[in-house]
Amino acid sequence: MVLTLAALAMPSAASAQEMLDTDPNTLPASQDPRRTTNGLAQTPPMGWNSWNKFACKVDEATIRATADTMATGGMKDAGYQYVVIDDCWHGARDANGFITEDRARFPSGLKALGDYIHARGLKFGIYSDAGSRTCGGRPGSQGHEYQDALQYARWGVDYLKYDWCSTGTRNAEEAYALMADALKASGRPILFSMCEWGNAKPWLWASKIGNMWRTTGDITDKWSGKYNYSLGIVTIVDRNEPLWPYAGPGHWNDPDMLEVGNGGMTATEYRSHFSLWAMMAAPLIAGNDIATMTPETRDILLNREVIAVDQDPLGVQGHRVAKSGDSEVWSKPMADGGRAVLLFNRGEAPAAITADWTTLGYPAALALAARDVWDHRDIGMLSARVTRIVPAHGVVMIRLRPKGGAKGS
Ligand code: GLA
Repeated sequence: MVLTLAALAMPSAASAQEMLDTDPNTLPASQDPRRTTNGLAQTPPMGWNSWNKFACKVDEATIRATADTMATGGMKDAGYQYVVIDDCWHGARDANGFITEDRARFPSGLKALGDYIHARGLKFGIYSDAGSRTCGGRPGSQGHEYQDALQYARWGVDYLKYDWCSTGTRNAEEAYALMADALKASGRPILFSMCEWGNAKPWLWASKIGNMWRTTGDITDKWSGKYNYSLGIVTIVDRNEPLWPYAGPGHWNDPDMLEVGNGGMTATEYRSHFSLWAMMAAPLIAGNDIATMTPETRDILLNREVIAVDQDPLGVQGHRVAKSGDSEVWSKPMADGGRAVLLFNRGEAPAAITADWTTLGYPAALALAARDVWDHRDIGMLSARVTRIVPAHGVVMIRLRPKGGAKGS
């Protein structure tokens, strides 16, 4: 008996170290076992954001017109949900430190705007920054995290994009975990979109902190290349693709908002852009002026078969499975046991591209039902491989389904 008491009073050196290692208060925020996800974004978020088209020239009239078009022009029915005001909506902080809106741009205020968006069956998104200033020079949330989260909740905000300008030596994991906690404490479910450009590799630590994280610098409406701080779409794709193992329901790699319809690329290139984002299970956040979009742009953004690939409930990010020069084959496993397959031609001339069943993880002899999701046409039952001529900078996107697959076909 005496011996037992002595043993309890003096734990061995090893177990003291063990206790320290597993003390949640000594762990980085992301590894704290008490941290839970917010349960949002079980499929990649869909919506619209003001930045790519309107940049800092954003106002109440534009947001209302966008919400109207989204609700009545087919986008809401196709799954687009969040109307997000990016940078430059902010006014000053009030005497108590609460953030206010710029009343010259938003005369009715953000609470009224949120109500307007909600009345159309849509959700309301907003933007802030983990530093002292946003990238557009407006007040950031540093030192005001809980107050800002509370103010957003009062306005009826459903989505926060949180940027990384003017953060000095701040630690990204600490800064994003702090705002995630503040959003939780606000009592309102608020989707958390992290915009830290991939600098601190958030895919390694943010799956219980954010619902999506930017993996690169800003997108620009160009096919490829690097332009100061922004990147063409193929350049983004090459950085986002290898991160596929880190994406899943509730936490997605974000290769940035869409440029479809902004005028810098051809319709073929925009179809490739949209298809690649869908293959990568990326958030589909339109970035064009949807109130004035052309039928051609509309047909791309509202292609429900491509959207279904993005939104597949299995939530696996697709990736490149074969490459030969400029010809690539991509595969995304789907909940029905099938695959979405992308034949992608990065080159300057049309090319014949083949996807072999063995490359896709199927026995060559297996007969699969094939459908072209841009032509909206069944190709028929195929075995061994599918070959298509793919235009320059273009894609052919095919759904393959096993007959009687997991969920039928
Ligand atoms: C950064 C972000 C962009 C946009 C701007 C706003 O550059 O990466 O997506 O939000 O700031 O100033």
